Amino acid sequence: LANGLGITPPMGWNSWNHFNCKIDHNIITETADALVSTGLANLGYHYVNIDDCWAELTRDDKGNLVAKKSTFPSGIKALADYVHSKGLKLGIYSDAGYFTCSKTMPGSLGHEEQDAKTFASWGIDYLKYDNCNNDGSKPTIRYPVMTRALMKTGRSIFFSLCEWGDLHPALWGAKVGNSWRTTNDISDNWESMVSRADMNEVYADLARPGGWNDPDMLEVGNGGMTKDEYISHFSIWAISKAPLLLGCDVRNTTKETLEIIGNKEVVAINQDSLGVQAKKVRMEGDIEVWAGPLSDYRTVVLLFNRGPQPNAITASWDDIGIPPSTVVEARDLWQHETLKTRFVGNLTAITNSHACKMYVLTPIMS
Ligand code: GLA
Repeated sequence: LANGLGITPPMGWNSWNHFNCKIDHNIITETADALVSTGLANLGYHYVNIDDCWAELTRDDKGNLVAKKSTFPSGIKALADYVHSKGLKLGIYSDAGYFTCSKTMPGSLGHEEQDAKTFASWGIDYLKYDNCNNDGSKPTIRYPVMTRALMKTGRSIFFSLCEWGDLHPALWGAKVGNSWRTTNDISDNWESMVSRADMNEVYADLARPGGWNDPDMLEVGNGGMTKDEYISHFSIWAISKAPLLLGCDVRNTTKETLEIIGNKEVVAINQDSLGVQAKKVRMEGDIEVWAGPLSDYRTVVLLFNRGPQPNAITASWDDIGIPPSTVVEARDLWQHETLKTRFVGNLTAITNSHACKMYVLTPIMS
């Protein structure tokens, strides 16, 4: 969407994966504090996004959405002010239907302009817009109404389309929003994570600055996968130019989680200015090679082992689109080292079960 936002994929946090409906004012302010104190905000994690369940079930007598008194007693504007004072941005959630997916609060269908005005007046910077409990009309009818309503407010609001079932949004999302879901909801386990990675990869060619494929939010740090699996999860989201929206409790992160989500070099791949989503370039049983171009003639390569045993995986220049005689230097983004060996034609590495190796290849000019 040409609203000047999402020039690189959005980064931040969202309440849903960890907290579901159990959210309140303190969780949001403490999360904002934690993003700053952990250094994650400095890495670019700027959006603090409230998901479903933040509003009263009924609108006020003027038809306005009202923050839930028991959990958000100071209202949303106060939260936005707080989050902004930390140098961060506040996101909120609504739905292109009569009720949101939880059915605990109203949706915005038929109230698009009014709700967009409310969000803008509160200082909202990001809207996630779901598709539950609608009137059965096409999302291509209902979503652009909110796009126009947001634009009419004059405030820059990132527009995240959370529609994945009715009519595939990757095919129409670029004119309507800044990101669009390509999958149904992720859960905190390996099968769920890899299947979302697969579904999202199909639409790689449709991602670009201003509009990104969204395989759903991160589960890193929620406890359901091993360290290697979370590294694979984070690596694939990064090279897929997916929104990096943390879904854990950042107030209580372990050192291990911080090492993953705080890997500056991997974040830099996600935020690379070229904005091209990596793709699978080779699949052989459990073995996959993913690759994509970066700025400055560099290439990112992921050797991904989906199987139960360690495997030697080879990325060949033929597959990844580097001219055959090109000599490259390889930087291992998880070991944080530039390999001494230079490579020409291919690169092979042993990759553990459910793990990946991630390299940036830089051509050596001679
Ligand atoms: C849908 C979305 C989730 C979350 C929930 C909230 O399932 O896909 O990401 O927002 O609704 O109810």
